[in-house]
Amino acid sequence: MPTVTMIGGGQLARMTHQAAIALGSTLRVLAAAPGEPAAQVSPNVVYGSHDDIDALREAARGSHALTFDHEHVPTEHLEVLVAEGVNVAPPPQALIFAQDKLAMREKLSSLGLPVPAFTAVDSVADAVKFGDEHGWPFVLKAVRGGYDGRGVWMPASADEATELVADQLAHGVRLLAEAKVPLKRELSAMVARSPFGQAATWPVVETVQRDGQCAVVIAPAPDLSEELAARAETMALELAAGLGVVGVMAVELFETHDGEVLVNELAMRPHNSGHWGMDGSRTGQFEQHIRAVLDYPLGDTTPLAPVTVMSNILGAAEAPEMSMDERLHHLFARMPDAKVHLYGKGERPNRKIGHINILGNDVEFVREKAERAATWMSTGVWTDGWDSHGE
Ligand SMILES: Nc1ncnc2c1ncn2[C@@H]1O[C@H](COP(=O)(O)OP(=O)(O)O)[C@@H](O)[C@H]1O
Ligand SMILES: [Mg+2]
Repeated sequence: MPTVTMIGGGQLARMTHQAAIALGSTLRVLAAAPGEPAAQVSPNVVYGSHDDIDALREAARGSHALTFDHEHVPTEHLEVLVAEGVNVAPPPQALIFAQDKLAMREKLSSLGLPVPAFTAVDSVADAVKFGDEHGWPFVLKAVRGGYDGRGVWMPASADEATELVADQLAHGVRLLAEAKVPLKRELSAMVARSPFGQAATWPVVETVQRDGQCAVVIAPAPDLSEELAARAETMALELAAGLGVVGVMAVELFETHDGEVLVNELAMRPHNSGHWGMDGSRTGQFEQHIRAVLDYPLGDTTPLAPVTVMSNILGAAEAPEMSMDERLHHLFARMPDAKVHLYGKGERPNRKIGHINILGNDVEFVREKAERAATWMSTGVWTDGWDSHGE
């Protein structure tokens, strides 16, 4: 049975490992340290850096496919691996558009896809000019390396932009500017594509961001018109085929007040907006990703309930006194239907340490319950005032 190598030892690799077990595959991970979420659970770990070609080579040796839990591997290294016969999935010529937000913006606009107005920022003057032309605040982004809102700023004035841009450029960070989109909400269209060319979609979901970081996902996106859902899905499928994506891809979208969707960014790996499917879809993204990179036929993605809400468990500002284990006891006592996924990570403020999926019929009800459960796990406080030790 095959071995798949995943570069990166985070929670995405950990949950991919979980899916690999059922398929009889082995997930080998390239991790930086034994404490990382996937390194804790995989018996097949190579330690090293994703920047080190020798570590990548060692991780790839004998593996049927090499894939990723983040987008930080230099494509130069991946080109070398491909030349040496490694099956890199997604291939570097596709992955570049998930790594480099400027290359992605340029590619998508050349394909005629809707994106916010944008420009490269090579100087303070570029940024101030963009703000003056497109309005303040605008959105300043690191071209590479950002995640969970790290690498995204919204300078409200020329002074603020000047300070930010000068500081980032001095640290060698490449930047782009884009217009701040007046959002109705954010959506994500997730697809999978195999080398054979088979593709599968999940329903378009709504993603709720807090401090630039995904907090809640509602599947499917409530009250999304069929027309807009179909447009988003078609866009994601066409992009996956056009870019030659192998594996799962999330297309992060902005829905505007006038019923348009703009592409925010692409992720060519399992993505937070797909976690709901671990419990809410016949085939979740982690299994689908393995199927796709190994060129198995893809799985049925039918939702298992009218609504699934995923709520991230984020590290609290101050970790509660009650242990995680005890919080879990109380959660299960109160909500036997809550599906909990913990990542084996220490509790640090705002860090994603797990998530909870709740399935049901009514969006408001299910969402409140999922958020209440996740807040409990984060803080040890029930937002509805319930006393866990009460009579
Ligand atoms: N052009 C924009 N207009 C409005 N909000 C934006 C824009 N770009 C980013 N954001 C907000 O910032 C979040 C993070 O930006 P994103 O580019 O997706 O960075 P990351 O790589 O950290 O996910 C988005 O999910 C959205 O909430
Ligand atoms: Mg994003």
